[in-house]
Amino acid sequence: MTAIEVNGLRKSHQGFEAVRGVSFEVAEGEIFALLGRNGAGKTTTIEVLAGFQRAGGGSVRVLGHDPYAERAAVRPRTGIMLQEAGFFPELTVAQTVDAWRGFTDAPRPRDEALELAGLTGRSGTRVRQLSGGEKRRLDLALALLGRPDVLFLDEPTTGMDPQARAATWTVIRDLAATGTTILLTTHYLEEAQRLASSMAIMDEGRIVASGGMAETLAARGGRVAFRLPAHVRTDELPLPVTVADGLAVCRAPDPDLAAQTLLTWAAERGLRLEGLEVRAATLEDLFLELAPDARSAEGARPAENARSTEDAR
Ligand SMILES: Nc1ncnc2c1ncn2[C@@H]1O[C@H](COP(=O)(O)OP(=O)(O)OP(=O)(O)O)[C@@H](O)[C@H]1O
Ligand SMILES: [Mg+2]
Repeated sequence: MTAIEVNGLRKSHQGFEAVRGVSFEVAEGEIFALLGRNGAGKTTTIEVLAGFQRAGGGSVRVLGHDPYAERAAVRPRTGIMLQEAGFFPELTVAQTVDAWRGFTDAPRPRDEALELAGLTGRSGTRVRQLSGGEKRRLDLALALLGRPDVLFLDEPTTGMDPQARAATWTVIRDLAATGTTILLTTHYLEEAQRLASSMAIMDEGRIVASGGMAETLAARGGRVAFRLPAHVRTDELPLPVTVADGLAVCRAPDPDLAAQTLLTWAAERGLRLEGLEVRAATLEDLFLELAPDARSAEGARPAENARSTEDAR
């Protein structure tokens, strides 16, 4: 079943079109990563999905309902961690959770929510005394209070230390395993790659790549890099490479196989391929090509730029 459906979504802020025709679907129990540079339109998309803002064009469905028009049907079944949480600084953690429990149907017990978010033992602390990462955890505890079927997490782990981040990943995975649908944004691409089974990359309000995480990365293949031995010309190599600063890079659908071919070739000639590095494609590789820094993109549209980068290799 499809938990989230976005079809041709458009949304403007004071005449500026932040989201320009975005479509994607998230299946029930799936973890979906919405990625993109600062200002790409991720938070705007989440605000529409959470029912805080009306779609400017196109349509969105969450659990089969319009989240804005049918807010009463959708809101109790969704949890949200906003990019910037607003807390009352003078309340304690316990008071904050209790206040939110008051607005939530059949809420989790306070201690359970705090434990899930790794805040056990912090109940008596005032919110203003929490560290940045701890505030993020409190926000996670609040998002989980209503045992939501759909969870929107806007940069959930920003500011968390590595342990807290890993613990949050476990919570997110466990929730998905029990059927919760999770849409998250993050600038940590390794986090997205580890957690999400599918993704969309947005740039300037549009989607520039989307699909299953594993399939998308597998389709991109990988790369083998090594220092080009002295006196070897690239046309002598058994596979095409590009060379920059003495480093030869071979892009291949199966980088392990390419490495074997290159190593065999080198061994037959008594050569060493120094600095050999074999790497599957990462989400970061894909991201940097598809959402290039606007200042270095020379005005190219992201998709076209990605293609020309590819051709150059
Ligand atoms: N309330 C607003 N009023 C005017 N413009 C806005 C408003 N909110 C967002 N924008 C603009 O809309 C665009 C998209 O913003 P959005 O917050 O959706 O981006 P984002 O992808 O979440 O970025 P980030 O990674 O920095 O959080 C940006 O250019 C931003 O300046
Ligand atoms: Mg944002």
